[in-house]
Amino acid sequence: MRPLRVGMIGMGTVGAGTFRVLARNQALIAGRAGRGIEVVVVAARNLARAVGVVGTDVALTNDPMQVATHPDVEVVVEVAGGTGPARGWVLAAIAAGKHVVTANKALLAVHGSEIFAAARQHGVAVAYEGAVAVSIPIVKALREGLTANRIEWVAGIVNGTTNFILSKMRDEGLGFAEALQQAQALGYAEADPTFDIEGVDAAHKMALLAANAFGMPVRFADAQVEGITRLQGLDVACAEQLGFRIKLLGVARRREDHGVPGIELRVQPALVPATHLMAQVNGSMNGIMVKGDASGVTMYYGAGAGSEPTASAVIADLVDVARLGGTPAAQRVPHLGFHAHAVDSALAVL
Ligand code: HSE
Repeated sequence: MRPLRVGMIGMGTVGAGTFRVLARNQALIAGRAGRGIEVVVVAARNLARAVGVVGTDVALTNDPMQVATHPDVEVVVEVAGGTGPARGWVLAAIAAGKHVVTANKALLAVHGSEIFAAARQHGVAVAYEGAVAVSIPIVKALREGLTANRIEWVAGIVNGTTNFILSKMRDEGLGFAEALQQAQALGYAEADPTFDIEGVDAAHKMALLAANAFGMPVRFADAQVEGITRLQGLDVACAEQLGFRIKLLGVARRREDHGVPGIELRVQPALVPATHLMAQVNGSMNGIMVKGDASGVTMYYGAGAGSEPTASAVIADLVDVARLGGTPAAQRVPHLGFHAHAVDSALAVL
């Protein structure tokens, strides 16, 4: 079978990691996908830096629209981030009949309804495992492993940058600004780290998790969101002395409001008992707990930020898309479509 032809938009931390892992594990990935996966064109802001990563055999452009509509491309990987321009590229790719793999949680939390509706209309898949807790296959866990369950709640640490900052403040007595600088240098933070430190990035991810878990409308605008910018070293040290750790926790749970079923969505710093499993999730790691009515509580742990941990999820989505090859269009979407449908209706009122 022909290799899956990929166009990439974005060659920053995540894009470079994706290209590197695809090249390094090429044969292994092809074996699992049933066909090769070949990057044919890349859009990057900094072409000189991009050529250093992808070499000269891959076409380079600084116009993402060229990748989105490129006739040789079957799937567009959007790892540039942001919402406005990214919405246009992704919708153009879908309109051109291309599948989309994205790690862009802000894009899906804000424009998910429109994007999933367009994907359904054009019979293509939109996959986004890399958008939530990067290395942890939590979207797949909710969609597949836990599919028999009525999910009661999802809770966890879903932002690597803030967890790294809090860990550095506690373990090394670092100031907030210095810890943030280190997180940025390690490629954990968003281009504008405000979304990380104000809890917005975690709220985007919790909205996606909630939409998957509950399959009902999640009003992102109603989420209670508080970040870690008002915390000081003294707060972290006092919590420690009292036997707690401060963690930025996201919580999504079912809640009845005057008999009307709804979802409570919160992100805020919380005191977690030092002996609790969630308190052991340190550095840039993420930890997510899910309570299902049949499964009980399950917990997932892994790198929550960084180049190759995100690449791991992006490539898993690419392998899913590669496996769709040769399937008639009408049967294609249901394969990835369970979560697409769930999220589509669930994000409808964002
Ligand atoms: N800035 C994000 C984080 C990257 O720190 O969690 C991964 O989504």
